[in-house]
Amino acid sequence: MIIETLSTFPAMYESVMGSSMMKRAQEKGILEFAAYDLRDWTHDRHRTTDDDPYGGGAGLVMKCEPIFEAYDAICGRGPSVSPTGSEQPLTGPRPRFCDAALPKTVFLTPCGRRFDDALATELSREGRLLFVCGHYEGIDQRAYRLADYEISLGDYVLTSGELASMVVIDAVVRKLDGVLGAENGAADESFVDGLLEPPQYTRPAVFRGEAVPEVLLSGNHALIDSWRREQSLIRTARLRPDLLDGADLSACEREFVERCGIADEG
Ligand code: ADE
Repeated sequence: MIIETLSTFPAMYESVMGSSMMKRAQEKGILEFAAYDLRDWTHDRHRTTDDDPYGGGAGLVMKCEPIFEAYDAICGRGPSVSPTGSEQPLTGPRPRFCDAALPKTVFLTPCGRRFDDALATELSREGRLLFVCGHYEGIDQRAYRLADYEISLGDYVLTSGELASMVVIDAVVRKLDGVLGAENGAADESFVDGLLEPPQYTRPAVFRGEAVPEVLLSGNHALIDSWRREQSLIRTARLRPDLLDGADLSACEREFVERCGIADEG
């Protein structure tokens, strides 16, 4: 998968994309990543990417011209890349993947669709994603014409679209085949089956008087699986009952969670 970002602080990606699983995904050739600096597609001495809002009001608004110009270059067309792709671009750098199939474009905005595991899975099936990120300010509405996805992390405002995009990128990339080793695959984790994951333990078996549940030491894997499923059901019923409607439960499990809910209220 190819992932690219377009923003005014591309250096913000260095630590996240250069460490741990995101780094490993690139080393394994599963992910190709590039962070572009929107200022490379400006034409004035100050490399201006924002301006005062029409109609007044506080703050600045990101201009649409550099965004469209960068988008054209990233897609291998427009004035910044020659038709043959062989010459130096007229403005801005030559984007690394401009000869690849067109990207799906993702804008990070508090006005977007709420990000969740299903959307992470949907994005992980795309071949190429381009994240367009604002910083402090909003983006001129006309730039949203380029958006295939408008995504919000939740009902709060971040100063940095870069930070929001890194959350989405992490959740997407870890779903790509081969990124997580078999030892910590994505199969048992929260949300995959619509439930929260069960509690986990590691050594020591007793810590400050608290013992690991007996069943996990039993070696009986059928029993362990059924304990884990039950713990998922209990935890979800207690902490996120809103998830239960969409979860795939047997009639017997539905009855069980209803009893959990009743026990909780009592
Ligand atoms: N940019 C600023 N706030 C955001 C949010 N809540 N989600 C996604 N992008 C954002």
